[in-house]
Amino acid sequence: MILYILMFTLLFVAVVLTVVYLMVFGRNRKRKPIEYDPPYEKIRGKNYPPPYPNGWFSLCSSASVKKGEVIEVDAFGQKLAVFRGENGEVGVMDAYCPHLNANLAYGRVKNNQLICPFHGWEFNTKGECTKIPYCDKLPTNKTAEEWVVKENWGLILVWHHSENQAPDWTTENQLTELKDYKYHGKSSEVLRIHLQDFAENGADFAHFNFVHNLLTIPFANRFVNVKHTVKIEFGEGETKHMAAFTDQADLVWKSSGNEIPHAGGNAVVTFYGPGFLVFRFTTKMGNMLLIKTFTPMDELKVKMEDYVYAPRGTFKLAIKYLLGEASSQFHDDVNIWERKKFAIKPMLVKGDGPIMKMRAWYSQFYSEHSIYAKRMAAEQNSERATEAAGIS
Ligand code: FES
Ligand SMILES: [Fe+2]
Repeated sequence: MILYILMFTLLFVAVVLTVVYLMVFGRNRKRKPIEYDPPYEKIRGKNYPPPYPNGWFSLCSSASVKKGEVIEVDAFGQKLAVFRGENGEVGVMDAYCPHLNANLAYGRVKNNQLICPFHGWEFNTKGECTKIPYCDKLPTNKTAEEWVVKENWGLILVWHHSENQAPDWTTENQLTELKDYKYHGKSSEVLRIHLQDFAENGADFAHFNFVHNLLTIPFANRFVNVKHTVKIEFGEGETKHMAAFTDQADLVWKSSGNEIPHAGGNAVVTFYGPGFLVFRFTTKMGNMLLIKTFTPMDELKVKMEDYVYAPRGTFKLAIKYLLGEASSQFHDDVNIWERKKFAIKPMLVKGDGPIMKMRAWYSQFYSEHSIYAKRMAAEQNSERATEAAGIS
């Protein structure tokens, strides 16, 4: 009899724990699927700034390209072949071979050279042709665009600049705490957004208490709201590519509006140019650091990746909960961004936050040629459409 009672009690506890676990961790708000509609996207994308700002961008994690491997990455409207030689050095090339345009990402790496799958031409990590199996005379002209590549923060980074200017800021000597933190994995999503929308979100103070007032714990939302107090500062001089956004998120009782002591948390978000930013979460449950990367793939198409770190000894459940909250809040925004247009002259009122100041800060990442490139692309598209329609 005692054995039965014990078994029943254990079963009951297991069921209760499973239900609570699912309620807390299974209710993360996700991205609502959206049907990709190219003609509509063209209309939607009309007013957005150029799709490829200038700056450092992550192509992928360092770990995703092992020695002797090559992978294909979509970025800046092109396909790139990213490979790592046996010496550990990374090379980035336009994926289409300069000879007859075979896809180099489907080639192989031998020693420190990338070998094309079509006629076996070999390229070094600078993109220079070093061998043609059937010809002694190598091309004298530059065979490929040379990318400025480096590895930092566990990422393979490239410098993209529409005027071909050299990097004027660096990621070194930042995130020094990473060496003491433990890596807890990554997530990756392709979003139909313009990456400037994310930056503007931090300056859009009015949406915080409207869009981000829910916890992921469903029953808690009957009694509790999240109240945000936000501020943003823009870098100047040597740090002009940086901005710092702070969000103090406190829990308040719905009935009285009074704050629940010690229940809130704080997020400090540092922008490093247009390509990535770092979230530092400080909560009573534990701290967490998130590197969020944005890689523009095409117009209104961005690859977003989260790399999760936490101080050693942080409870895994705390990290899981904080990630669930962060990703729910992010998806609440994404569901709006993927369906919006860009308001060139928004109708701003008192309380909206420094949206135009953010735009002024962000404009440093565009240059004459990036705007020109976009106009050219639009013209080419209309030419193609004219040809397809048989009009000459
Ligand atoms: S297409 Fe690459 S070697 Fe010919
Ligand atoms: Fe938001």
